[in-house]
Amino acid sequence: MVSVGDPAEIPNLYSFTRKFTKSDFYHVLLFYAKGKPVPTIFATQDENLHRMLRKPISGLYTMSNLLSFEPHVDSTVAFFFAQLDKLFVQTGGVCDLGTWLQMFAFDVMGELTFSKRLGFLQRAEDVDGIMESIWHYFYKTSAVSQIPWVDRLWAKNPVFQRLQAVRMNPIVGFGLARIAERKVAPDTFSDTGSSTNSRDFLSRFLEAQSKDKSIPPWALTAWTTSNITAGSGTTAILLRTTIYSLLSHPATLARLLSELDSLQLSSLPTPVPFKQARTLPYLDACIKEAGRLHPPFGLPLERVVPPGGATVCGRRLARGTVVGMSPWVVHRDTDVFGEDARVWRPERWLDCGDERRRRMEAGLLTITFAEPGCPEWRVENRWFVNQTGLKVRLKRRDGGEVGKA
Ligand code: HEM
Repeated sequence: MVSVGDPAEIPNLYSFTRKFTKSDFYHVLLFYAKGKPVPTIFATQDENLHRMLRKPISGLYTMSNLLSFEPHVDSTVAFFFAQLDKLFVQTGGVCDLGTWLQMFAFDVMGELTFSKRLGFLQRAEDVDGIMESIWHYFYKTSAVSQIPWVDRLWAKNPVFQRLQAVRMNPIVGFGLARIAERKVAPDTFSDTGSSTNSRDFLSRFLEAQSKDKSIPPWALTAWTTSNITAGSGTTAILLRTTIYSLLSHPATLARLLSELDSLQLSSLPTPVPFKQARTLPYLDACIKEAGRLHPPFGLPLERVVPPGGATVCGRRLARGTVVGMSPWVVHRDTDVFGEDARVWRPERWLDCGDERRRRMEAGLLTITFAEPGCPEWRVENRWFVNQTGLKVRLKRRDGGEVGKA
């Protein structure tokens, strides 16, 4: 596998308009249920399957649509604080905040997807061993993903699968149970006591499925499982890194707190709405810096060079070559992020000119290109292309073309 470290190569390898396909690395990451693989948007290598799974729901992940999910996040934030107050503030007990942030992230994804938390915060424990099973899963698969033939020979071997006790992955199991409940009683009540919000992910997935009869029934499991697996660990890691880095660098925490004071919190609802929170430049810088310094994905996101080969960092790579970029390497590029790229310094996102900031943003593998329906646009051969592959050409009011802006 050719490991590429130059951030300038991101659009070359990961552009949705190029034909680099996902390598066998992703096959290793497939979950199994009842001895069979559960294809997910994230892990499937089959381009047609990926398109079939992604197209009907990509619109759900646009920023304007994601904002409609904010009440689900807010209710989980409120419950999270209530539990911390009850279990730690009032008793003076010691709180393992890292674990609680992880439990929060899982519950918030359950709430967004099913209007039902997975139950971590309520029970203050690892429900059904989900966190432990994910830990074991990544512990094993991160090593095996680097030698994928071992996976086909061992974990995904049909004989081995048949001999193994049939164990359903607890996340897949939780999703299947919620889908079954929703089909029987679409008006079931959520944890929060309100009737199921018709705008949660599951109801929209069901809508998408009912509009297109060619979508197979198992797509629902693929969509819900993708959400929980792709959204929980990543969010937990980002939250933990942000809070850990602020606590271990008190000067940055003090600067953030003084910025928060400027918001006049008493005049705003709690939690502070995203619309207001996003106007805070230092908060934004802290989140970007956390995603840069401790990206949730620690292994190269592998792709396969298409027929005809490709030029990467000025060198020709033959078709079929596996090539990838590790966010941990790319985000420490001193040319783009500065000589102190290895340290926590949110100020780097503010004390720089616009051009430098744009270069740094384009050098982040975690935030800019990743999300389905991501609102980011980039310029390619005088076209504006977004992450879903949509291409537009803009005209200036004065008739001129908006080109290499
Ligand atoms: C800090 C939080 C997050 C980070 C850093 C992150 C990062 C990423 C990255 C790097 C990829 C591309 C992986 C690859 O091509 O190998 C990805 C894909 C994906 N993410 Fe996220 N993610 C985050 C949160 C979420 C959330 C909250 C959701 C769901 C609501 C989500 C859903 C997905 C899905 C469905 C894909 C697969 C997209 C596709 O292949 O078309 N992610 N994410």
